[in-house]
Formats: sequence, structure tokens, C-alpha cells
Amino acid sequence: MFKASLVNPSQTHGQPLEDLKQIRGFVGGRSLIAFIDLPWVPIYIAVLFLFHVWYGVFGVIAVVILAALAVANEASTQVPLARSHNDSVAARNLAASQTRNAEVVEAMGMMQRLRGRWRQVYDGSIILGRALAPIDQLISGWKQFASARTAYTRLDELLADFPARGDPMSLPAPEGRLGVEGLVVLPPGSNKPVVRGLSFELDPGEALGVVGPSGAGKSSLARALLGVWPAASGKVRLDGADLSRWNREELGAHVGYLPQDIELFAGSVAENIARFHDYNPEDYVDAAQRVGVHHLILGLPDHYDTQIGPGGSALSGGQRQRIALARAIYGSPKLVVLDEPNASLDEQGEADLLTSLDRLKQADCTVVLISHRPGILMRMDKLLVMKDGAAAAFGARDEILPRLTGKPQQGVSQLKAQGSAKRGPAAS
Ligand SMILES: Nc1ncnc2c1ncn2[C@@H]1O[C@H](COP(=O)(O)OP(=O)(O)OP(=O)(O)O)[C@@H](O)[C@H]1O
Ligand SMILES: [Mg+2]
Repeated sequence: MFKASLVNPSQTHGQPLEDLKQIRGFVGGRSLIAFIDLPWVPIYIAVLFLFHVWYGVFGVIAVVILAALAVANEASTQVPLARSHNDSVAARNLAASQTRNAEVVEAMGMMQRLRGRWRQVYDGSIILGRALAPIDQLISGWKQFASARTAYTRLDELLADFPARGDPMSLPAPEGRLGVEGLVVLPPGSNKPVVRGLSFELDPGEALGVVGPSGAGKSSLARALLGVWPAASGKVRLDGADLSRWNREELGAHVGYLPQDIELFAGSVAENIARFHDYNPEDYVDAAQRVGVHHLILGLPDHYDTQIGPGGSALSGGQRQRIALARAIYGSPKLVVLDEPNASLDEQGEADLLTSLDRLKQADCTVVLISHRPGILMRMDKLLVMKDGAAAAFGARDEILPRLTGKPQQGVSQLKAQGSAKRGPAAS
């Protein structure tokens, strides 16, 4: 569920939990017991025959009718039921409560009629009841069984899409050497590569600037560098070890990520900066100071204890971005990926960002930064120009900038114009 939300945040992914509940309800419920009782049906029928042949004949007819109803019920409801499960929550609730209740009532009604007919032969009716009970329960429980079956199929498909990770290794803390070899990235659920055969290497402490027009695959590369999206082919290596072999929980402390669409979590500013780890004030204040956001936070109503809603609704775009930057550099990460960290920053914010980049460099932290702003690209050691998912140019900053359109400054402005052209005036 979590991974599905990572790759497609716009969809709600509560269904798998509902599915799990459905299956648990079936396994722990009465309908499964009805299956176990089923083999007793012939024995009860035989006992009915011992009482009187007509008792037995009636029992057999009743069993046949109820079984036929069960089959008809299954046949008529299977397709609509499966469809209703794929529909909205409302449709699911309707299928779960209303129709199931209607069915129980129907089954009970039939029981009453049978009892009425056999009232004068009381002993026989008990045995008939025993004979019919499992069938009766099967009918009333069939919807649950069918739902559990659909739920199981859906969970099975989900798990097939996101197989369990292999046993990750515990590796020593990385130094930050990043190696990308023939990297191809497919957005999950798509077969159109958005990064096509990228290769480059960064030494610990090196800073790489990534530029390119909208849709060039910059953000997709960022996700692949952090293992959020798996490499369809090729490799991303951190200190020589394939990223997928790292233990995620352990690796998390050594990497930082500032996504293009910033998502802060419900909680305090301090918790968000400290990534909801056990924290002490020195650490998160230190992170806030390193990105120059300390004074901004002191201006919030409850300082570091200010509660921010989902998406940080109480904060402005720039405030969110700067707090998210503090979160990205919290601790002492060895690899930091920043996707347009200055998109909503003012001049002061940008100056602070440059200072934090210098500090990351001093700490030998490898930085991959996606941006169109010339000021920031000037601070990078290397530049990668992406176009249609591939590298249009890669090399040292001083080598790449002039190669683009002559003068460095002009080259970057041109890139900026290209990059923001498709996004319209609001975003630029
Ligand atoms: N979740 C997704 N599923 C399918 N395709 C996607 C997904 N995310 C991005 N893409 C596609 O991948 C391509 C590259 O997108 P990406 O976000 O990497 O571009 P970008 O270079 O970061 O652009 P921008 O400068 O606008 O941020 C686009 O064509 C986009 O449609
Ligand atoms: Mg992007």
C-alpha cells in the first residue's frame, strides 16, 4: 500500500486493508464452519430416511432446491459483485450491508415455511434442520465467501506488483560515492521509459546539477537515485553496492530527499524535521540552523512545537520548502537529492540555500540538485543536461555551461526559459 501510494499519490489506497478484513472475517466467521459441516448432510439425510422414507425424500428435495439457489445466487451475483468491489466506497458498503442482510432475511423466510409444514413431526424437523443448516448457512455466507475470494485476488495482484524485497544487507555507513550505470527507469505501471540509459559517477562530496526541460525525466531520475522507483535495467550504486541491496531503514539515515511536491506530515515542525525519529532538540535545531530556517520557525506560533496539518496547510509554500530542506539534511546524510529546492524561495531563502549547499560540501555530502536557477548551478561541480530521459551533456560545470550556448550565464538562462516554458507563468 505504501509503495503504491509512493508511486501514485493521487489515488487512495485503503482497499487492501478492507480486503484483509474481508478475508479475516471469512476465515474467522461462521461460513467456514458451514463448509466443515457439509459432509454431515448425507448422514442426517440417511437418518431422516430411517424415520420415514418421505422424510428422507423431502430432505433430499430441500437440499437440492437450496443448493440450486446457492448456485444461482453465486452465478447471478459473482459478476456484479466483482464490479461493485472495483467501484467506490459507497458501492462497497452497499454490497456489504444491504444486500447481505436481504439475503439472510430471504433464507430465514424459507426456514420458517419448512418448519411450518413439518410442525406435526417435531423430531424429524430437528434432523431436517440439521441437514439443511449447513446449506442454509452456505447460502447466507456465500456473499462473504465471494467477497473474500475477490479480495484475495486483488491482494494477490497487489503483492505480485510489489514483491517482497530480498534480504537486505547491513552495510557500513556509506561515504557517498554514487554510481549510475546504464540506468533505465519506467514509472510503475507504465512501459514507456522516462530515463533512458544514463551513466555517470559522483565522488563523495561532489555536487551535480541536473537541468533540462519539463518532462525530461529529472524527477524520475531523482526517484531512481533514492530507490523510490526501481531501476528497470542498469544500476544505481552507493559506495559500490546496488541500491536495492541496502537495508532501507538503515540507509534512510544516510540519505536526504527533497521531493518536487513537498509533503509534510501531520505533527509538529520538530517531528517533521527529525523525520519522526526519537530526537533531541540539538539535532533538529542544528538542521534548521544549517538551512537558515531557525528564525523562521521561532516566528511560528509554537516555535518547533507548531502543529502542521497534512501537507503543512498552516505554512506557506516557501516555509514548507525550507522546513522540508531541513528534513532532507537532518542528521549527517551522505547523499542528498534536492528536486527544485528553490522553486518557492525568496532571495533570502535562496541565499540560505546556497550556504547550506556549501555546508553539505564541507561535510563531504554528495548532492544531486535539480534546478534551473543560474546562481545555484554555479555552485555545482558537475552538470547533467537531460533531454527526453537521456543525457544531452554531462561533465564539469565549466565545461558544460559554455558548451550550451556560449557564455555560461546566458546558457543557464536559456535552460531556465526552456524548463519553465511548459509550466506557464504561474510556476515560473
Ligand atoms: N507516476 C508516473 N506515472 C507515469 N508517468 C510518469 C509518472 N511521473 C512522471 N511520469 C512521466 O515521466 C516523464 C518525466 O517526468 P519527470 O517528472 O521526471 O519530469 P521532470 O524533468 O522532473 O519535469 P519538471 O521539470 O516539470 O519537474 C513525463 O513524461 C511524465 O509524464
Ligand atoms: Mg520534476
